[in-house]
Amino acid sequence: MRGELLIQGSKNAALPILAATLLGEGVFILHHCPRISDVEHMLELLEDAGCLVSREGHMLIVDTRGAGNFRVSGEGAGKMRSTVTLLGSLLGRFHQVEIPYPGGCTIGKRPIDLHLEGLSRLGAVFGERESTLYGRADCLRGASVCLTFPSVGATENLLLAAVLAKGETVIRGAAREPEITALADFLRAMGARIRGDGTSCICVEGVCRLHAAEYIIPSDRIVAGTYLFGTVMTGGETRLLHVPLSHLGTLPELLERMGAQVRAREDWIHVRMEGRCRAVPHVMTAPFPGFPTDLQSALMAALATADGISFLEEKMFEARFQIVSELQKMGASIASQEDFALIEGRSRLSGCTVEAKELRGGAALIMAALAAEGESRIRGMEYVRRGYEDINGDLKRLGIVLY
Ligand code: UD1
Repeated sequence: MRGELLIQGSKNAALPILAATLLGEGVFILHHCPRISDVEHMLELLEDAGCLVSREGHMLIVDTRGAGNFRVSGEGAGKMRSTVTLLGSLLGRFHQVEIPYPGGCTIGKRPIDLHLEGLSRLGAVFGERESTLYGRADCLRGASVCLTFPSVGATENLLLAAVLAKGETVIRGAAREPEITALADFLRAMGARIRGDGTSCICVEGVCRLHAAEYIIPSDRIVAGTYLFGTVMTGGETRLLHVPLSHLGTLPELLERMGAQVRAREDWIHVRMEGRCRAVPHVMTAPFPGFPTDLQSALMAALATADGISFLEEKMFEARFQIVSELQKMGASIASQEDFALIEGRSRLSGCTVEAKELRGGAALIMAALAAEGESRIRGMEYVRRGYEDINGDLKRLGIVLY
């Protein structure tokens, strides 16, 4: 992989920000919004709630003035995990919410107990009818909430519910991911009063009303990370633009440990790899600023070609080693058990037909295919399109020939 690339807008920032538009009445303008299927599904849900949505390239216009429906049941609702983010915003706007009960998904059970417990502290009550989750809060009141795990989604829902609640909400044990700060920035642009985002203690002072806002969605740190591991695996040299260095956490340091030369400024990163990458003794996924679970598969693919033995621990989701069997088909030597994988790097993988079973694993298999000898076919590209706007186009821009 060789060349320069502008990184698309962040999926995980865009989705809660779109949910947040419901909290204010007016016409919102969002720039740098990724054209991915998860965003399209969220837009369907906003339309379901009564919003008018239009798109011009990467600019989205959301008119929430006609919103009036707290029941979300559109086709997209069952497909997408982040439907759950609508809990906080629909409760804030309509004091009621009805969404399909978000079940497990391919990467693990993904319960929502922390969301429900936290929102209950603010005065919401929940019930379940068949496969539907119903919530009501005649009056949301600020409260002190302590999350026993820094859940990204629960922190987002609490922020969304707290901005229009009466009084002050303090969220302790909050997630510190850059997407939380992006959501807080957007809510502040709407008139919300939030302090402490980016730390584990966030304070929200409720306001009576929020207004429309214009905002630029930050670039996707996970898409950037995927291509950086691709660069390392292919002995390439890439410069990724629009990538806030502060969003990459410990990733640049890890790439250096793998033998890459890394240069970075405030909003770009340049990585160059000569020869084969080095194994890393131990990497464990962790909440930000630790190594992100969403890049664990791409790292595994890279380590499958590294010189030496690596250990990977997946601490966030139960079923996130699904690419092991696919990488093994390509000749990788990986032994995995529960949340632990031992990877003995091979100098070359062999191209073959593999199947993506979820979004991030699918992108990692594409990176593995780039480093493999011969032709590879990757099935299940619909998963990859949930989060990567144009992975084929991006790779072509970086000198890769795709059929
Ligand atoms: C978000 C991201 C996802 C990323 C994850 C962790 C979006 C749309 N998705 O997912 O890409 O992999 O953060 O960085 O932004 N948990 C509970 N109870 C809860 C909530 C979570 O036990 O009520 C557990 C989960 O099962 C998981 C861990 O907490 O083991 C982390 O989940 P969480 O941070 O909530 O992830 P998501 O917000 O679902």
